Amino acid sequence: MQRNPPIPEAVSSAAEDLKNMEDFYRTLVMKANSGMAILQDEKFIFVNPSLMDIYGYREDDLLGRAMVEFIHPEDRDQARKDAARMLEGQSFTPYNYRVVCADGQTRSVAETVTPISCGGSPAVLVNSMDVTELVRLRKQLVDTQSLLLKEEQLFAIGTLAGGISHEILNPLNIISMNIQMMEMDAWPPEKTKAMLAVSARQVERIEKIVRDLSAFAKPSKGEFIPLNVNKLIESVFTLISPKLRLSGVEIDKQYEGELPDIPIDRSKMWQVIINLFSNAIDAMDGKSEKRLLVATVLEKTPEGDFVRIVFSDSGKGIDEKNISRIFDPFFTTKDPGMGTGLGLSIAFGILQEHRGTLHAENNEWGGASFVIRLPVHPA
Ligand SMILES: Nc1ncnc2c1ncn2[C@@H]1O[C@H](COP(=O)(O)OP(=O)(O)O)[C@@H](O)[C@H]1O
Ligand SMILES: [Mg+2]
Repeated sequence: MQRNPPIPEAVSSAAEDLKNMEDFYRTLVMKANSGMAILQDEKFIFVNPSLMDIYGYREDDLLGRAMVEFIHPEDRDQARKDAARMLEGQSFTPYNYRVVCADGQTRSVAETVTPISCGGSPAVLVNSMDVTELVRLRKQLVDTQSLLLKEEQLFAIGTLAGGISHEILNPLNIISMNIQMMEMDAWPPEKTKAMLAVSARQVERIEKIVRDLSAFAKPSKGEFIPLNVNKLIESVFTLISPKLRLSGVEIDKQYEGELPDIPIDRSKMWQVIINLFSNAIDAMDGKSEKRLLVATVLEKTPEGDFVRIVFSDSGKGIDEKNISRIFDPFFTTKDPGMGTGLGLSIAFGILQEHRGTLHAENNEWGGASFVIRLPVHPA
């Protein structure tokens, strides 16, 4: 009778090691919280339980089917491109797309792919994380942010409203007085022409204000148009000067004569300037001497040309301890209802969009100076 030769101890322990190792890796993959799959020819040849959880399908429903079938049709092209870039080693950041699950709902996943070899043939290892909740929260954040932007813009418009109604009522009064006079029986007809000319100018004044205001109130189209900064500031002055006059502010304008046009998102830059003006007016509240200097300077540097806009007020200045915080969202030293604390943080963001900067310091008048710097040729 022939007996099997005894298995040498070394071999048996190696087999055991291998088995232990296999168990270890199997547990790792099967218990992992992130979805894992292996694709060959773009089809699932392996899926772990977490991936089945995300997709809501059983193993049998997934194996042998192309992964792309489960991706939301609108996201397929992008997901393919992102995966290809990662497989080619051009990108290392997880990309997102939506999966259409068994129940018809979509879930957002963040995914990475790695080229591997499986059974001697090329394959792709897929790692997926369910980020549906994260994506939802991010969207909520973006929605809230745009709501807040709107609120700050409304606030800026509110700041103007008093002055503007004054600015419109004035020319209207002139026109109505002219009409009353022209209606008088004894009115010399030769004077009518001059009166009409005056009225026409007043109508133009109103038109300009309404045009400026409605352009400002419109949401920005994100267009950068070459503009002259001096003219831009002047158009804000049309809107804000009644308020400046009412507050008793003495204005000093020092414009650089020749400024090149620079690409600017008009309604956004308006918002910046209006906020700087209204902050200055607030800061000078209660001061006996209210001075506001608005200056533009063309700065030529080896790094390129810049337009600098300086707003210097003779207000109460900024507390040293606050100077690093004034650009933080919601930072305000104003009473509730008087400020949103968003103006400067929005202004800061808008200047970043223009590749420019916004900087604050206290000045020799004891007030604050805000300096905008805009590149003439933004990269
Ligand atoms: N011209 C200024 N002079 C002094 N302090 C200023 C000036 N501009 C802004 N600040 C300070 O920065 C804070 C934040 O300004 P901002 O973001 O516009 O919000 P808000 O005007 O709603 O308070 C203000 O509350 C104020 O403390
Ligand atoms: Mg403000």
